[in-house]
Amino acid sequence: MIPFRRVFRHLPQPALVLAPSHKLAAANEAALALFGGAGASQDEQFDRVSATLGPWLRADVDSFCESCDEARTYEKEHQGFCQCPHYYRVRLARLESADARRGVIVILTDITERRRALEEIARLAVIVDSSDDAILSICPDGRILSANRAAGRNYGYAPEALRGMSIFVLVPDGLEGEMRYVLEEVVAGKSVSRYETLRRRSCGTVFPVSVTYSPILRDGVVRAISAISRDITPRKRVESELRRSNHSLNRMLEETVKSLSALLEKRDLYTSGHQHKVSRLSCLLAERMGMDAAQIDTVRIAGLLHDMGKVCVPMAILSKPARLSPGELALMRQHPETGYDILRNIPFPWPVGATVLAHHERMDGGGYPRGLAGEDILPEARVLAVADVLEAMSSHRPYRPALGLACAMEEIGNQAGAALDREVCRAARALVDERRISEIRGELTLCP
Ligand SMILES: [Fe+2]
Repeated sequence: MIPFRRVFRHLPQPALVLAPSHKLAAANEAALALFGGAGASQDEQFDRVSATLGPWLRADVDSFCESCDEARTYEKEHQGFCQCPHYYRVRLARLESADARRGVIVILTDITERRRALEEIARLAVIVDSSDDAILSICPDGRILSANRAAGRNYGYAPEALRGMSIFVLVPDGLEGEMRYVLEEVVAGKSVSRYETLRRRSCGTVFPVSVTYSPILRDGVVRAISAISRDITPRKRVESELRRSNHSLNRMLEETVKSLSALLEKRDLYTSGHQHKVSRLSCLLAERMGMDAAQIDTVRIAGLLHDMGKVCVPMAILSKPARLSPGELALMRQHPETGYDILRNIPFPWPVGATVLAHHERMDGGGYPRGLAGEDILPEARVLAVADVLEAMSSHRPYRPALGLACAMEEIGNQAGAALDREVCRAARALVDERRISEIRGELTLCP
């Protein structure tokens, strides 16, 4: 018996022996530590354990002892006692004494951590199941281990039917390679976040999804993969409608700008085609300089409208076949500001008005209307300035014949780094050398 007593005493779980009278007959060290009886006499310790456990355990012991099943052990889970927040599993077993009277051995196992883990899992399961996103866990070989309700709805299967199915069933034809690659990446421990692809429903229809795959690790090894996918059909539909609407708005904008441009050129036949050509030249220069798409759009639109303000200049001045008088020149020089006033309330997505306003500014400060210099002039306006000079000199004017491309390029070379931006002039030189700007039968010809 002694070894058993020692085992009983040193059991890690709190253990008690109840006499046939159900009175406490023994308590091991773990039980005394649990009930706080250390240092007290044995009677006091027993009283304390009994007082604590009595009401808590009596029903279980009575129920167990009344049972006729000799071999049966009894297990029940309880939450705490003495305001103790821990959970315990109570295990009861019969003890036979020499006089055939029955006692009971009680072993308490603290299952708090396990209970809390289970509660956490239950909470997470509710969250997972109430999510609108399809959530799957997948084996590294692609077999589905679990699926939430949204997965069932999105893919058109009962969640339980998805379990055991291959993820490849949900992958449309032609995307199997992509799926294999993603699985390999995640099995290697990487996450694949919010990538957009397609999936297939049970009825065969294909729909767009945004998917995130993450490795589920245990002991540093990828045991499974979490796959969260969102049906992005509504978003794609809105994006497509927005694209259509943007395309339509852009076309309206383009046509409006071209109409405005044509309005001026119909009035001033001598400069007919000038704005159109400056716009194309500016785009060539901006592209050659590596400007971004927004800047290229800016010079394209601003080029088409840059002399818009000339609608307020009398025809007699516009078509005067001689040098302008100082007063006429002053009137003519108002056209950048007039153009800006006309355009400034149009909500272009680019600085079109400001570029039009500055297209006669010069790098050395000798331009108008504000006499800006260097970096204070918008880069787009510096491009427009070179394109304007190049086109104007290459073309016929009421007061002089066309000077030709060679003469225009000579002037641009002379003004590079002085009145005109050196980089833009360099781009013009390169475009001429590449024959993308040339002169054919006296006409400035552009090759995009
Ligand atoms: Fe101008």
